[in-house]
Amino acid sequence: MSYLELAGLQKRYGGSVAVDDVSLSVEKGESVALLGPSGCGKTTTLRMLAGLIQPDRGTIRVDDVEITRLAAHKRNMGYVFQSYALFPHLTVSRNVAFGLEERGIGKAEIARQVEEGLALVRLDGLGGRRPRELSGGQQQRVALARALVIHPSVLLLDESLSNLDAKLRDTMRHEIRSIQRSLGITTLFVTHDQVEALTMCDRIAVMNRGRIAQIGTAEDIYERPATRFVAEFVGRANALPATRDTEGKVVLWGAAHPVAAPPQGAFDLFVRPQRMRIVSASEPTGGETVRVTGRVLRSVFVGDHVEVLVEGAGGQLAVEMPSGTTAPTEGAEVAVIWQAKDSLPFACEAA
Ligand SMILES: Nc1ncnc2c1ncn2[C@@H]1O[C@H](COP(=O)(O)OP(=O)(O)OP(=O)(O)O)[C@@H](O)[C@H]1O
Ligand SMILES: [Mg+2]
Repeated sequence: MSYLELAGLQKRYGGSVAVDDVSLSVEKGESVALLGPSGCGKTTTLRMLAGLIQPDRGTIRVDDVEITRLAAHKRNMGYVFQSYALFPHLTVSRNVAFGLEERGIGKAEIARQVEEGLALVRLDGLGGRRPRELSGGQQQRVALARALVIHPSVLLLDESLSNLDAKLRDTMRHEIRSIQRSLGITTLFVTHDQVEALTMCDRIAVMNRGRIAQIGTAEDIYERPATRFVAEFVGRANALPATRDTEGKVVLWGAAHPVAAPPQGAFDLFVRPQRMRIVSASEPTGGETVRVTGRVLRSVFVGDHVEVLVEGAGGQLAVEMPSGTTAPTEGAEVAVIWQAKDSLPFACEAA
């Protein structure tokens, strides 16, 4: 049994299901990201964990104790709300102290821990202000300090870095990750940001429509997406409409390729743009390589890479070339190649 166990959690609002059937096991000290589109049930899952709403079905266990119906304030969970939820009439320091005061800790000790908490989120010296005197990103960090100072048994973070600028976000990611690791805090981390999920967490649970579509390491999810939804949602992918020939080989852009097609039904071949390479149209390729030819429609410099859009007999595809390499000019006839193993067939969704 893992430290945190969610089993068959379900929550309905009226006729519609917000969380359908979520089961998840998280080890002590592990950090798991909940990644998924808006409305898929991430916040609802965290709120059930924190005890702010009751599930209609399912159980929550922490350290082998069932807490499904336990009052929120008895759970020792640090929760950073998507909307911060600071107390507007209290100073920053009193906001951070809130959970400590509830625990009956002495004044001097509280003051020390609040100072420590504020330093951690780089807000030293701002303890006397009210939340309305802070920027959105600063308010978010107050909420983070408030959750961390209680040394929670489980830390629940809901988009907790979304309002910070790119540089501060990067710093905070590393700080939270190292606090989380050094204190061994079991963490569930909701984010829309894939880089955040990849850098902050040991495992990622991709959610869709109230369910977990796939859970695994970043590499599992990216390299071996279990469903079409996961392949589309995590990272970028070309979805290339394909057919099969009489031998069951994939036919793409008018030619057969050394890739096995699924036995039946319409399908697309998913290929990551970074796995594709552009070579001159006349360059021969062999063996386990897929090769299609087309014409360059556009080359766009996007900072860390150049995006090249190629059009051929079967439509368009995007190739990401590392910047620094010479991108082909618009209108050039080129071949696009990739390894057969980098092609993942997924059935087309029923209309
Ligand atoms: N109190 C509520 N009453 C009715 N419906 C709700 C309530 N809270 C959430 N929902 C619905 O439940 C679904 C899941 O909501 P939830 O807030 O969990 O999504 P989310 O994954 O956190 O999305 P986002 O990324 O936009 O924050 C949504 O369709 C939402 O409209
Ligand atoms: Mg949410």
